[in-house]
This record gives sequence, C-alpha cells and structure tokens, in this order.
Amino acid sequence: MLGGKNCTRGFEPQHVFTAKSGLKLTTMEKKHKGLKADLHLHTCDCIKESTIDYNAFQLIDAAMEKGFEVLAITNHDTITYSSYLKDYAWERGILLIPGSELTIKKKHILAYNITDRVLCLENYNDLKKIKKKNNLFIAPHPFFPASLSLGMHLIKWQSLFDAVELSHFYTNTINFNKKAITIAEKLHLPMVGSSDSHLLCQLNTTYSVIYAEKDTEAVIEAVKNGAVKVVTSPLSTAKAGLILHEMFIRKSIKKVGAACFYLFSLLFRI
Ligand SMILES: [Fe+2]
Repeated sequence: MLGGKNCTRGFEPQHVFTAKSGLKLTTMEKKHKGLKADLHLHTCDCIKESTIDYNAFQLIDAAMEKGFEVLAITNHDTITYSSYLKDYAWERGILLIPGSELTIKKKHILAYNITDRVLCLENYNDLKKIKKKNNLFIAPHPFFPASLSLGMHLIKWQSLFDAVELSHFYTNTINFNKKAITIAEKLHLPMVGSSDSHLLCQLNTTYSVIYAEKDTEAVIEAVKNGAVKVVTSPLSTAKAGLILHEMFIRKSIKKVGAACFYLFSLLFRI
C-alpha cells in the first residue's frame, strides 16, 4: 500500500493515478520495486528562492524521513547539485538527479540530467537541439493560472516533452490538473506527481512511484516509458489556504525588504 505511514500528518495520499496503459506498468512492477520520487522541489540555495527556509541538506533529511528514494532539486534557472550533495543524499538512501526549472520564453520547463549549458538557452528549438537520450523534460503545472505556466505551449512544443506534471496544489473543488490529464492522454505522455515544494509541509502531498533501478538513466528511461504512478490526494481547503498564505507572506516580506534596501541606498547617496 502506497502512502500510509510515511505521509505528512493529517494528509495521506490515497489515489493512485496512472496515465498510460497499465500493461507496461504491470511488467515493470513485477521487475522492480517502486521508487518513491519527487522530481520538482525547491530549496533556498539560489538567489531566486531566497524566501525558502530550508536548504538542500535539510530537504534531503526531511525526504529520507518520509521514505523518498529519488529526488531532483529544481531551483529556477540554476542547477543545485554537486558530488558532495549527491553523496550526502546517497548515504541516506536517496538518488539525487540534477535538474532545473528553466524559464524559456517566459514559460517554465523542468529539465533533468542536464549541464550548465542549458541555462543560457533562450528558446524551445535550442533546447530541442541539445536534448540527449538521457535527458528528461517535464511540463510543470501546465494549466495553472499563471503567466509562467506553459498552457497551450505544451501542445505547440510537445516534441520536447517526455511527461506532464500532476501538481500537488489542488482541492476537491479547484483542480487545474484536469486539463493537464486530458492533454497528457491526448499526447500519449505519462504523468508524474510532484509537490513543487517551497515549504516542507508540501513535501509528500503528491509524489511519483517510479519502477526502475535506483540509477539516474534507468529512472529517466522508466518515466519516458510510462513506468510511473502518481500517488495523490486533494489538499484540504485549510491546507491549501495555509500554503498560499505562507507563500504570500514570504513574498511580501521579501518585497518590503527590497523596497527598504532601495530607500536606504537612496538616502545613503543623499
Ligand atoms: Fe517549481
């Protein structure tokens, strides 16, 4: 039974969702133990994520406690990864895959097993050109109402993507994942579940189970082949509200702090 004892208190993922044909999955299930995975996580280790109050080591420790075996830290337009961090995770039973949430033409794209080279690319065609067999590209929260969501660019750029994300942030009444599920089925793309954590309480709300060896290339191949299940459950309205509130407060504090700094620098010049 997935979920259960490793779940965040007061919230237990209960629905197992598979977008692709179960045939391949059943074969993979027989061959491999499922790896509990979250491939969309943020930490305070880069300037754009300065409102987050935990670093990569703290995230790995928290994920280990919840039984995760595969993680990717996907900070915006940077790669938070080193051999030290990889070893730190591995010693705790976790395979750490290098990743990033890239901003291409003002749209977010999750990229994995990549090098710094992708960080200076500016358009979809460049990304497509450098894509190798062992890279993975996922469309994050594509139909969430934000200008950085891919929206119909998911269809326009479909040849780039290997999977579509089912995001943790939904409730019984509001669910922007519905359209993503429909489009993923239409495009014959598997779905992965992730938390897009900016707060540790988001971790373990929705995740993937990937049927593969605990190895970067094997995990990527398994996702591409649809050997992945999403374990998810809607957030309660209270929890969704708490997440929004926390994130809004942190952003506001950051903006006020930046404004104060700007004012002080002006005064200082005077
Ligand atoms: Fe994200």
